Amino acid sequence: VSTDALAGELARVVGAAHVLQDPDLRAPYETDWTRRFHGTARLVVRPADARQVVEVVRRCAAHAAAIVPQGGNTGLVGGGVPRQGEVVLSLARLDDMGPVEGGQVTVGAGATLGAVQRHAADAGWEFGVDLAARDSATIGGMVATNAGGTQVIRHGTMRAQVLGVEAVLADGGVMRRLGGLVKDNTGYDLAGLLCGSEGTLGIVTRARLRLVPRLPHRVTVLLGAPDVAAAQRLLGAVRAAGVPLDAVEWFRSEGVRLVREHAGLGPPPCGEHPDYVLLEASDRTDPTEQLAEVLSGLPEAAHAAVAVDPPDRRALWAYRERHTEAINAVGVPHKLDVTLPAPVFAGAVTALPSVVSGVDPAAVTVLFGHLGDGNVHVNVLGPAADDERVDEAVLRHVAAAGGSISAEHGIGTAKARWLSLSRSEAEIAAMRAIKAALDPAGMLNPGVLLAP
Ligand code: FAD
Ligand code: MLT
Ligand code: ZN
Repeated sequence: VSTDALAGELARVVGAAHVLQDPDLRAPYETDWTRRFHGTARLVVRPADARQVVEVVRRCAAHAAAIVPQGGNTGLVGGGVPRQGEVVLSLARLDDMGPVEGGQVTVGAGATLGAVQRHAADAGWEFGVDLAARDSATIGGMVATNAGGTQVIRHGTMRAQVLGVEAVLADGGVMRRLGGLVKDNTGYDLAGLLCGSEGTLGIVTRARLRLVPRLPHRVTVLLGAPDVAAAQRLLGAVRAAGVPLDAVEWFRSEGVRLVREHAGLGPPPCGEHPDYVLLEASDRTDPTEQLAEVLSGLPEAAHAAVAVDPPDRRALWAYRERHTEAINAVGVPHKLDVTLPAPVFAGAVTALPSVVSGVDPAAVTVLFGHLGDGNVHVNVLGPAADDERVDEAVLRHVAAAGGSISAEHGIGTAKARWLSLSRSEAEIAAMRAIKAALDPAGMLNPGVLLAP
């Protein structure tokens, strides 16, 4: 029998079956996807709708119980799991999806990306964001992290798809703007503010999303390249030629080795190379010829595998998309997700493995990422989960090169202490002022984004 008065109150709001206190039931909510970040929750509460979220927030506030909002728990920066006995508020049950109308749809925060993609496709549209965790990551989590993924080069990040949100604030107030107005200059962009707020300003309960037209012709090409600089030149060439690109991804031989071992894949059909670039383009007419023409002037064209049919395209994507799980299968990674400016990109990226080995000679570095956005995922295997020396060295290297310490995963708890490497004192002061105005008691996701 629970002796936690808060648990009893919450059970009256959401039903006893949706207040989890048993350690075994809490466990999946207490450790992140990488297994690097974990803590203990006071309890996990799973409301069914926004009205219940309001009640949960009000009761937690009355008990001075801090809240960690959680969607699919695929976040990679330790922002969605408890640290010191917070209440985990799971949005997973808010997975309703409204009708697709005029290229827009309103969906619950707990709807998975995959469900939204299928819902849009059934109505002849597409959703402009895609990432490998599609069957677990939720729209609420993607708004909260301003998720990027593989199609940013074409459609922008999550923020660009969000026309409005419904969110519960720390005082239980509800901010709702779901009318889908494309133009709406009536003051501060509050929905935009919630994008990338990482659960620190409000709990997203629904979002109004923009969809994109479904284009009938799509081609995927995997190319081998001798080094990062060549990969970057290739990007420049296809971009300058106006190829209707959806994705320009990059990975290297060390990642391919891990993916092949983990997924049992054969060698890449473009042959084995130090670096690889995966291009995808789509249009109303077949873009294959245009792409072939641009590539024909480049030495990398000699090592190209082209796919048009969905199963063949998926087979090429597997070498890129399965990096995350393949790395996780080897150990608990330190995941650093950075952007570097184009002029210094090749040099700064090439130096990354030696930055890591300069701190920990035994560490293994696996690099891959969204080349089209200058976004590199630096994965380091070897250092203990709480040994942050490598993280610090990489982030300082990136900041010194004029890059950002987080491209798309966010700051979470993992990088909060280094926020000042990417943000000025004045910017951090403004962020703290916004946080204090909307959540004066520090109820929502304490320790995330803004270090205590
Ligand atoms: P969670 O992990 O549950 O939470 C993430 C953060 O959002 C936490 O701070 C949490 O408190 C907050 N939050 C969650 N829901 C809400 C809500 N409703 N209201 C307010 N705050 C909330 N990310 C990319 O950007 N690009 C990628 O390409 C990409 N690929 C991935 C591939 C794999 C295999 C995996 C495991 C992860 C990948 N990610 C990627 C990271 C992750 O999927 C995204 O960050 C995603 O947006 C998290 O969604 P989630 O529902 O799992 O959120
Ligand atoms: C990706 O691009 O695959 C993701 O951001 C996940 C990762 O960094 O591992
Ligand atoms: Zn990514």
